[in-house]
Amino acid sequence: MNLLEKIKANAAQKGKTIVLPEGTEKRTLLAIKGIVANKIANPILLGNESAIKAAASDAGADISGAAIIDPVKSAYFDDFVQAFYEMRKNKGLTLDQAKSSMLDPLFFASMMVKMNKADGEVAGAENTTGNVLRPALQIIKTAPGMSSVSGAFIMIVPNCEYGDNGILVFADCAVTPVPTAEQMAEFAKATAATAVEVCGMKEPKVGMLSFSTKGSASHEVVDKVANATAIAKERFPELKVDGEFQADAALVPSVGSSKAPGSPVAGQCNVLIFPDLQAGNIGYKLVQRLAKAEAIGPILQGIAKPVNDLSRGCSVEDIVNVVAMTALKA
Ligand code: ACO
Repeated sequence: MNLLEKIKANAAQKGKTIVLPEGTEKRTLLAIKGIVANKIANPILLGNESAIKAAASDAGADISGAAIIDPVKSAYFDDFVQAFYEMRKNKGLTLDQAKSSMLDPLFFASMMVKMNKADGEVAGAENTTGNVLRPALQIIKTAPGMSSVSGAFIMIVPNCEYGDNGILVFADCAVTPVPTAEQMAEFAKATAATAVEVCGMKEPKVGMLSFSTKGSASHEVVDKVANATAIAKERFPELKVDGEFQADAALVPSVGSSKAPGSPVAGQCNVLIFPDLQAGNIGYKLVQRLAKAEAIGPILQGIAKPVNDLSRGCSVEDIVNVVAMTALKA
């Protein structure tokens, strides 16, 4: 069984409910059949019921296994408006603004997760990452002990001896444009947890990436990565983490032992933390395209309950996979 099959099989054990706010989006509708047939989750589609049914009929999608909730007609609507208003009135939100936010299925879906009406949310087939993340960050917020959210990709690299037989987890590739050292340290902890929970990795070994290895270059951006490594070691003593490393020192045993002798993880890393979002986003796409790796994600981590963002170029199968990962994280 490959990793994706394992993720789907493990999700099927959990019986979680996942809300899909893009209720008339064609690929989302087509994904319902696979989600239901494989018992990956109990899906909820948000939107006007007749519009959803008409879109499903146009797409030739079997959505008989999905529940449909129309936010405006829903029994939850008034409570959600009030709850959102209470949450954000000290930030200047009015009751009218709270009401119009809850008419947006992305806000309504995040509130469903917050209020335990769904275990997780998947969106992004037709909305930008920012539009999916903003309601989730405002409503669901970060997990206890975490101050920042990040997005990880599981990279499955064919014919590759690095990482865990070619499986690596990269972060942050999706959320925080310029993380602080503290945020990078949290990403290290959260990504190691994703490696265990989603990939079943036995021993995450985290490399904090830079263009310098252990002081080989000096610059303030290198100092940030070195600080992040020190913070991660202090805050999370159970974590196997080291840096700062160039990518080859993190991955290749001979380079790791020559550039970072004595490091517990150099040359053996299976979790890579990038110094900023430009590096992380470019890095995962290069590996995906040039090494023909499968890139699964982004998996949002550090958030109190699971929300995951799809690429607008996603396939039906991608949606099924991301729903499975979301159910697994729930
Ligand atoms: N972790 C936790 N909370 C956060 C984070 C974070 N990284 N970033 C913002 N927030 C919180 C803020 O504290 C704020 O909370 P509050 O309103 O309760 O005080 C809330 O989120 C909204 O913050 P804003 O500053 O209004 O939101 P912002 O406009 O900065 O948007 C966002 C945040 C959406 C994450 C933005 O940083 C963003 O667009 N990031 C890049 C996303 C992206 O384009 N990724 C690349 C594509 S994805 C791909 O290729 C796979």
